[in-house]
Amino acid sequence: MPLIAFDALQDGGFAESEAVLDGDAESLILYRDGDTVRAWLNVCPHAGRRLDWAPGKFLKSKEGLLVCASHGASFELLHGQCVAGPCRGASLRAVAVEGRDGGVILEVPVRAADRHLVESDAPCDPEDAGMR
Ligand code: FES
Repeated sequence: MPLIAFDALQDGGFAESEAVLDGDAESLILYRDGDTVRAWLNVCPHAGRRLDWAPGKFLKSKEGLLVCASHGASFELLHGQCVAGPCRGASLRAVAVEGRDGGVILEVPVRAADRHLVESDAPCDPEDAGMR
């Protein structure tokens, strides 16, 4: 299930979406840059507030920075780093997303246990598997 339809995001625009990450419901900032979408947790590193002034309504400066509605921290939109304001040098927490099949979806990391199954090319030892 996509977070949002890709075309619902204007190029250079923002949207907000909810997602469950590590078992917790989180608000995400989605930002479209051409054919790419980037996402961060909607949590300002200054005082932990949401960055939008109303749900899904984000401020963008004329310099192209995302501006937190609470105290004006300003973030560049490549890495989500604060370049001006009270938390200069801190970063938003990035969330991996990708555009696929007309939607924006979370990239789900491969679990360590699954990665072992995929990457292991060691022959199966029937003794280890308790088959003898
Ligand atoms: S909470 Fe964002 S600038 Fe203070």
